[in-house]
Amino acid sequence: MIEWNENYKLGIEKIDKQHEFLMDYINKLIEIHEMTQDKNAVATVFIGLIHYFVYHFEHEEMVMQECNYPGLERRCFENDIFCNNLERAKLDYMKGDISSLSYIIDYIKIWIMDHIMIEDKKYVGELSGKF
Ligand SMILES: [Fe+2]
Repeated sequence: MIEWNENYKLGIEKIDKQHEFLMDYINKLIEIHEMTQDKNAVATVFIGLIHYFVYHFEHEEMVMQECNYPGLERRCFENDIFCNNLERAKLDYMKGDISSLSYIIDYIKIWIMDHIMIEDKKYVGELSGKF
């Protein structure tokens, strides 16, 4: 499980709330994966998490675009790769590769930490004063 704490705060309320929600959603996926063998129930949470990641990235990319953040193109590229990896993992899982979900959950946990603590902190640093 991952736990939200004050260190993850960027100081932009809407984005902080989205990050907190993403962490709750990741925990929901971990929980349901550990608790049930029901593939459809797990896949439903996994799909919901992917949708929320897409929503969050779209929001951040819009903010970065409005402020002419120079790293926008790279961020869009990285977000696309991440979403494609999740989509592929979802298809593999639904095709019966159940054990791969544990690896993907670990990947998501590491990715979200880097996303907030490194990548997002970078752009928030550049945006300060522009909000
Ligand atoms: Fe973010």
